[in-house]
Amino acid sequence: MSLRLGDIAPNFAAITSLGEIDFYQYLGNSWGILFSHPADYTPVCTTELGRTAALKDEFEKRNVKVLALSVDPLDKHLSWINDINETQHCTVDFPIIADADRKISTLYDFIHPNASATATVRSLVIIAPDKTIKLIITYPASTGRNFVEVLRVIDSLQLTADYSVATPANWVQGEKVIVIPGLSTEDALVKFPKGLDIVKPYLRYTPQPNID
Ligand code: BEZ
Repeated sequence: MSLRLGDIAPNFAAITSLGEIDFYQYLGNSWGILFSHPADYTPVCTTELGRTAALKDEFEKRNVKVLALSVDPLDKHLSWINDINETQHCTVDFPIIADADRKISTLYDFIHPNASATATVRSLVIIAPDKTIKLIITYPASTGRNFVEVLRVIDSLQLTADYSVATPANWVQGEKVIVIPGLSTEDALVKFPKGLDIVKPYLRYTPQPNID
């Protein structure tokens, strides 16, 4: 059965470019991103892993650990990483899982047989510190993911985990947010002292609560 939002991300042991890891131990109390790519030595994947490496500080700032995966073997990962570093002007220092037996890909539903019988699709799973799955996106092999969007989603997930708000379309850090429907206006006025902009009873904005 496939994993869904709210499910507990299953633990696993993996062989990676940085040695053997236990997924939960690797994550510790951090947020996590587990993302699959179709194959090593392919152009789009090379750019994706390069972008991820280049955003190292942004992931660290948000307390997020990243972990990539493909079904290619470890020796291929290790030599390909040299190419990624060279061509993308970066240092890949996060682990890439060598899932040659496809156990983890199967566990996380990363192989979509009608897209490819053997390669993983571009799936990305965001996992909260309590190990619940907060986001799953899946792109085809031909479309590289937008890692600025991945950071934006993490900002939204972390904000909405702490406050009774949701983030509107295209929201980015610093913009006004939406008071969740379950909170009464009376309670919202107490929780959000910066005030409310009530456009409709169900559409209430407030300034982002965790910044000045
Ligand atoms: C790529 O990563 O460039 C790629 C992989 C499989 C199919 C198409 C593109």
